Amino acid sequence: MDLGNVQVRKEPPLGWIVINRPDKLNALNAETIRELYAAFLSLRDDPEIKSVILTGSGDKAFVAGADISELAKLDQTSGKDYVLEGQELTKLIENYRKPVIAAINGYALGGGTELALACHIRIASENARMGQPEVKLGLIPGFGGTQRLARLVGKGKAMELVLSGKMIDAQEALAIGLVNSVVLQNDLVSTCEALAGEMIANAPLALEYSIRAINEGLDKNLPEGLLLEAELFGITCSSEDSNEGTKAFLEKRKANFKGK
Ligand code: COA
Repeated sequence: MDLGNVQVRKEPPLGWIVINRPDKLNALNAETIRELYAAFLSLRDDPEIKSVILTGSGDKAFVAGADISELAKLDQTSGKDYVLEGQELTKLIENYRKPVIAAINGYALGGGTELALACHIRIASENARMGQPEVKLGLIPGFGGTQRLARLVGKGKAMELVLSGKMIDAQEALAIGLVNSVVLQNDLVSTCEALAGEMIANAPLALEYSIRAINEGLDKNLPEGLLLEAELFGITCSSEDSNEGTKAFLEKRKANFKGK
């Protein structure tokens, strides 16, 4: 499916969403944000697709940020509306029931880092450059950068990145926990596919509830988070897949999960 600025490629059990504005380093204009939302919705409800990999077209950029020519026209009201729409997209990705991997194949700046932050896993190629340069434009991050970055890498590093607006390379992103791993650019696709394959070999409901427990738990205090974990654990205990998974282990065979 080609939405114009976004390509959706189905390679069951994997789905690829590719941001395709290479002449603008895949910068996110409003149209692209809407197309990304539609792309993620379509694969979310597709039973053939068990995991989604998000990347940018070309070998230079994942996403070089929100489209600055659009940012230049925003005022207080339209600016707030604009980021609320972008935040809907990042929430859709963050709360996806299936694992979402960001394959960061170059510049991931501003909205690019924020889009990656919403994904469950981030794999970067060696040429990746990340950062939140909004302050250089007189703005602040608006697609969750002040919130998710601090939750992922801690307040100190988030303050440093957001207040300096500096770009960091892939190795530094790895060192601060902003990305899960760094690979050669030629290995990025195969690494993401292998990791997706490893995750989706597991029980689908267990993946869904793990994502929920981690995401929702981070917004709670520890006792409440543990209670949520107990509740979701209980639900998985009554699933056909937990019956199958535990039985398969005891019978020394591979489990055949059904997602029920
Ligand atoms: N919004 C709109 N257009 C963008 C863009 C963005 N965020 N990032 C890059 N582009 C466009 C450039 O304007 C240029 O378009 P043109 O060829 O029509 O002039 C094209 O993409 C290529 O970018 P260019 O700057 O020539 O590439 P470069 O290799 O010299 O530099 C970057 C790459 C990423 C360092 C540089 O493009 C940049 O700083 N981009 C903005 C990053 C940013 O501030 N993002 C956060 C926005 S909140």
